[in-house]
Formats: sequence, structure tokens, C-alpha cells
Amino acid sequence: MLKDKKILLGITGGIAAYKAVDLASKLTKMGAEVKTIMTAHACEFVSPITFKSITHQPVITTMFDIDADIEHISLADWADMLVIAPATANIIGKTASGIADDLLSTTIMATTAPVLFVPAMNIHMYKNPIVQENINKLSELNYYFMEPEFGILACGYEGKGRYPKNEEIIFNIITLLKYKKDLFGRNVLVTAGASREEIDPMRFITNYSTGKMGLALARAAHIRGAKVTFVHSYVQVKIPEYFNSIESISAKEMHNVVLEEFSKSDITFMTAAVADYTPVKSSKQKIKKSDNMNLELKRTKDILKELGEKKSTDQILVGFAAESENLTENALKKFEKKNLDFICANNISVTGDDDTEILILGNGAEIKLNGSKFSVAHQILDIVLKK
Ligand code: CTP
Repeated sequence: MLKDKKILLGITGGIAAYKAVDLASKLTKMGAEVKTIMTAHACEFVSPITFKSITHQPVITTMFDIDADIEHISLADWADMLVIAPATANIIGKTASGIADDLLSTTIMATTAPVLFVPAMNIHMYKNPIVQENINKLSELNYYFMEPEFGILACGYEGKGRYPKNEEIIFNIITLLKYKKDLFGRNVLVTAGASREEIDPMRFITNYSTGKMGLALARAAHIRGAKVTFVHSYVQVKIPEYFNSIESISAKEMHNVVLEEFSKSDITFMTAAVADYTPVKSSKQKIKKSDNMNLELKRTKDILKELGEKKSTDQILVGFAAESENLTENALKKFEKKNLDFICANNISVTGDDDTEILILGNGAEIKLNGSKFSVAHQILDIVLKK
């Protein structure tokens, strides 16, 4: 997938530098050409020979290496993308201030390729308003940032500061190489997952939705620069730490959260499989069995319909329809009834776990999309952004 892509890896001086060895290895195995720049502090943590042995490409540690026939301008021009992993507060601060005093900072300054920073540091450093201000400034200037993960840090603290998983970084690299930051500055609200309607403390009514399509949309929007709010019921996927995610398990909870969040949202994707019915009464105690049991259900509120009634002219509202027959006809009915800008309809017998086929209607278009859920998510965004 990364065949012939030229990736310039910048390693700065943090304990997570050793984790970037595996990143370099994975990228190389995926076919990328990986050259590495290491700062002087990075060399204190990992030997340049390690990166050289893994990438079989030059590893440059100084601006003034007399034998090196490579210098910052040619490296900056060579790269399809720069990935700074781990990125210390120092390299972020230097870039934000326009300082170019070593090979890495000079190359960052000289490149026109996308630059992805992967910050990893002590929780207090990461939260320091100076660091946050630098990240905001650079984000506005079209530098890309991953958010660190939450966990136990090398310094002994627990918090947000851990180097993210290399698979996550690679995922960001692939998408950044492919897509532009065309959602920068937009707030995107995505709902996902299967609601659970409680019958008693042990039992609930739910459906088969995994939350994968919603998560794919949220990730696609995030990588294209959007500020994503992910409101989810039960999902069978791991939600990245860097999302602003809000759990709302029942239809009622989701109704409350979504209505609260909606006014801030520029584009809303109601991907969640919200229950249409909920028990009239949920028992506080576990219900004991009897021969037969009747469960009385009542309708839940239709969140999407309410959003359709509330939306302003500059908000875009996208609904989803899972159908087993008459796909276009049923989708069109929902599209009109709920005052949507777009509806994405899928045939439940065709949709797989990771792949999907979707018919998107709206803005005068009727387009069939298929592929992995992530690829379809990007195709949906492409269409929605044309509105
Ligand atoms: N939806 C909602 N609130 C509900 C139920 C569904 O917001 N209480 C949203 C879903 O998130 C989805 C769309 O509405 O975007 C689905 O429309 P809906 O008419 O509910 O579809 P189905 O539940 O499939 O309806 P039907 O059983 O009538 O086909």
C-alpha cells in the first residue's frame, strides 16, 4: 500500500524513540522508502545503526556530515511525507517558532510535503498551554497532529502522553498521503453503534450493528482535519483515544446527547442503529421466568427526524437506512420524511463486517459506492463536501 512512497522519518529525543524502530520496520515492509533523520538527543536513546539496519536507507544525524551527499533541501524535496515520531515538546516548539537550528528542524521548515507530528511526552508537558498553543498554531498552518494515547507514561504518571500504536500512525500516514485536509475547521458529529434498551438489570433489546461504519466515518473526517464528536451506543470496535467520544447506550440517552451536540455541528452523520422501540417499563429487579411473557414496547423518539426539523441552512445532515428490500424507494421516503441533505442506504444482506455497498442519495445525485468501510467513508465525505 505504501509501495514507492518516500517517507522521511524524524526521530526526536524521547523514550518512545525505540518504538519508532518498529514503525520504520513496518513502513519498510509495506514497500515505503524510509530515510531517517535523528536529532542528537534521539541518538542518546537509540543508535542510528538500528534504523539503518532496518530501513537499508541513509540515517542522517548532523547537518554538517562531510561524507553525506544529502542535505536538508534535497531531503525536504525528496520526501512525499515527513513523520516526526516521537515528537517532543521541543521540536513542536521550534517548528511553531520558525526555528531551524539542526537538520530535522531545517528540513521541516524547507519541505512542502505534509508533516505529521506524533507527540509523546509527560502528561504535564503535553497539557502545558505553551505546547497546546504551539500545536494549535501549527494545526492551523496545516501541520498534522496525532493525539497521544492515555496510559502509564515512562515518567511514572498516568495520563495522555503515550506514543500511539504504530498501526494507528501508519493508518494516518496512508490516509494523509491520499487525502487533503478539506474538513479543517469544521465540526463533525458522528453517531454509531447499537442501542441497548433495558428490560431488567440482566437483559436488554439490541440489534446487530457493530459501529464500524460510524467509526470509519469519524476516522475519515478526523484525518481530513475535522473536529470530531463521536456519540456511540454499544460498539464492537476500539475507539481511538483522540476522539471526543461520548457514550450513550440507550435511544433516550442518545437523544439527549445528540440534541445537545447538534447545534455545534457543521456536518452530522446519524450512523447509529437507534432502537425504534423500548420497554414501557424496565424492571429494577431481575424478572423471574414464567410460562409466557409479554413485553410491552413503546416508540422511541426519532432523533434524526428532530434534527431534520431543527437544522439550519448551513448544517448538513446525513441519515442512514438499513434495508432488506426496495432500497431506493425506502431510502427516498426517509430522506424526505426526515428533511435530510443525504441518505446512505445499504442492503443488509450485502453489507459485510469490514466491506460495504452503499447507495447515497441527495443533492440531485444517486451514486453507488462500495469497498472497505473506510474507503466508502471517504467517498461519502467527497460527495457531501461537494454540497
Ligand atoms: N434513527 C434515529 N432515531 C431513531 C431511530 C433511527 O435518529 N429512534 C436514525 C438512524 O440513526 C438512521 C435513520 O434514523 O440514520 C434510520 O431511519 P429509520 O426510519 O429509523 O430506519 P429504520 O430504523 O431502519 O426504520 P424502518 O424499520 O422503518 O425501516
